[in-house]
Amino acid sequence: MSVHKKVKKVTTHVLQEMKANGEKISMLTAYDFSLARIVDDAGIDVILVGDSASNVMAGHETTLPITLDQMIYHASSVIRAIDRALVVVDLPFGSYQGNSRSALESAIRIMKESGAHSVKLEGGSEVIESISRILSAGIPVMGHLGLTPQSIYKFGTYTVRAKEEEEAQKLIEDAKLLEEKGCFAIVLEKIPAKLATRVAKEVSIPIIGIGAGSGVDGQVLVLHDMLGINNEFKPRFLRKYLNLYEEIKGAISSYISDVRAVDFPNDKEQY
Ligand code: KIV
Repeated sequence: MSVHKKVKKVTTHVLQEMKANGEKISMLTAYDFSLARIVDDAGIDVILVGDSASNVMAGHETTLPITLDQMIYHASSVIRAIDRALVVVDLPFGSYQGNSRSALESAIRIMKESGAHSVKLEGGSEVIESISRILSAGIPVMGHLGLTPQSIYKFGTYTVRAKEEEEAQKLIEDAKLLEEKGCFAIVLEKIPAKLATRVAKEVSIPIIGIGAGSGVDGQVLVLHDMLGINNEFKPRFLRKYLNLYEEIKGAISSYISDVRAVDFPNDKEQY
């Protein structure tokens, strides 16, 4: 029987087994109780409480403004909904770059106050001390390389990263460093598929892609994007499984018409 069918709870070890077995890992974001419950019930392997909540939930242009307290609020809502999935929580911008001690304090707050199972943070060699310190406290860490949105003002654009040899080489070295230090998985965002496939072959930990092609060990998308709740974001890598923006708008328009026409509530919908 395949690994994902056997397990009642997904752990970092399960993900490692899935990679060894050639089973692809599914991952989606969630930020609140109600949607997290549906995502978990559908059988997702990993739920990411992403700092994309800054865009999706709060309407900011970047992921930079979201705070550690806000991430903990989202994470604890998600955790209350979960039976099976492994929950990973993003360390927000400013909560781990300063020094490794404050990085550990931030990670401990997430684990203690939300009940999450692991944390994710962006970057390679430049944040390796923070990663090592968090890992040495027994907290599982997922890495994130390629287009790292917390560095958007350094990049200046959301276009594909690591197309040039030098950046591709640094990404491969960073992936190997994260593996060596003990990260349990790495997200690769918006890089050439060929490079992502190479990383997935050369490192033994699971590689989860977003805009990184099909040759990796799993895929992640932002839930609101794949459900079509957000109808402005249309990158090439995104597959929309629903057009919820229009569906929800249609339902709300019907409700407004019914209220105006005194069609709602009807006799059966009152006491
Ligand atoms: O915050 C997020 O949603 C992410 C994914 C894009 C991987 O980091």
